[in-house]
Amino acid sequence: MALSLVHSTLFSKTSHLLLHTKIGFSHFSSSIPFSTSALPSNPKTWRRPVISVLELGGVKIARDDVVRDDPTNNVPDTIFSKLGLQLHRRDQHPLGILKNTIHDYFDTNYSNKFDKFDELCPIVSVKQNFDDVLVPADHVSRSYNDTYYVDSQTVLRCHTSAHQAELLRKGHTHFLVTGDVYRRDSIDSTHYPVFHQMEGFRVFSPDEWEASGMDGTSFAAEDLKKCLEGLATHLFGAVEMRWVDTYFPFTNPSFELEIYFKEKWLEVLGCGVTEQEILKRNGKLNNVAWAFGLGLERLAMVLFDIPDIRLFWSDDERFTSQFSKGQLGTKFKPFSRYPPCYKDMSFWISESFTENNLCEVVRGIAGDLVEE
Ligand code: DAH
Repeated sequence: MALSLVHSTLFSKTSHLLLHTKIGFSHFSSSIPFSTSALPSNPKTWRRPVISVLELGGVKIARDDVVRDDPTNNVPDTIFSKLGLQLHRRDQHPLGILKNTIHDYFDTNYSNKFDKFDELCPIVSVKQNFDDVLVPADHVSRSYNDTYYVDSQTVLRCHTSAHQAELLRKGHTHFLVTGDVYRRDSIDSTHYPVFHQMEGFRVFSPDEWEASGMDGTSFAAEDLKKCLEGLATHLFGAVEMRWVDTYFPFTNPSFELEIYFKEKWLEVLGCGVTEQEILKRNGKLNNVAWAFGLGLERLAMVLFDIPDIRLFWSDDERFTSQFSKGQLGTKFKPFSRYPPCYKDMSFWISESFTENNLCEVVRGIAGDLVEE
């Protein structure tokens, strides 16, 4: 298996295993019981104060629209405060530099044919996020434990694939979508509940594959692999690569690309030939298409030698001043970090206890330095 570094693709079979092997809470003994019912009744009122309105692509979004004291809502203030930051749109930020480098690759090799989107609103419907890309009704990613729900029909997108259908319906045939995505998760040096993805999509018409004598699916799969191998070389130089068959609900066949980097196989992205059902539903009945999704943090950590995913969110000059527009791969120089400080605590838990709920309460007070 590839090096497990930073969010692997959520929808592949292998990552389900990872999701189910989360560490339990056996180390919380019950010797000094502390009932959670002793907490103030509304946890959101004693968390850190945050801004109340933010602007996304010219649209104002109020905190009260996204963070609500309602059982169908599980968005904490700490997550709301990330919604407008759009790190991928900062040209001097490693994520922005990486995005621009990938854009350059597509512009050069496809003569500016790919339409680029990086300001689509991360608040999407359940239909966009899951149904439109054929995520099964009982898929674990739909749970309140894994996804941030604004209400029962609205979520913070958990992947940029959420925009495939709407862009197809609008008539786009070649596009790249970059954005912040949200998944309830632990926080440590390689995990953070907000990260950034880029989605790529290309539609072919029959004349494109008919001339080749291949069937549409084989033609698209071959083109996809050629395109992404070129992208990996553009980013990493001459590296060894391999393709691994996998499963995604939205593609068939589906693949992961891995590169051999620093003596380990590193999963770079997920991709495949788009399910016909998605094309059919969105006005592309006679076409075939390919799609890919890649995690920007995962790649940026490797390319810039950034050891901790939390650094991407830093406003500390010692971090931000190290990177410049257009400079992919400047090596990050570490600066002082606080030493870790371990604390034991014990408490009673109720039947409805989940690890993510607890961690969010703790982080609402103590911030992102708290691990595990
Ligand atoms: N949406 C997937 C995820 O977040 C990544 C992905 C895989 C996107 C394959 C694609 C694709 O477009 O074809 O795990």
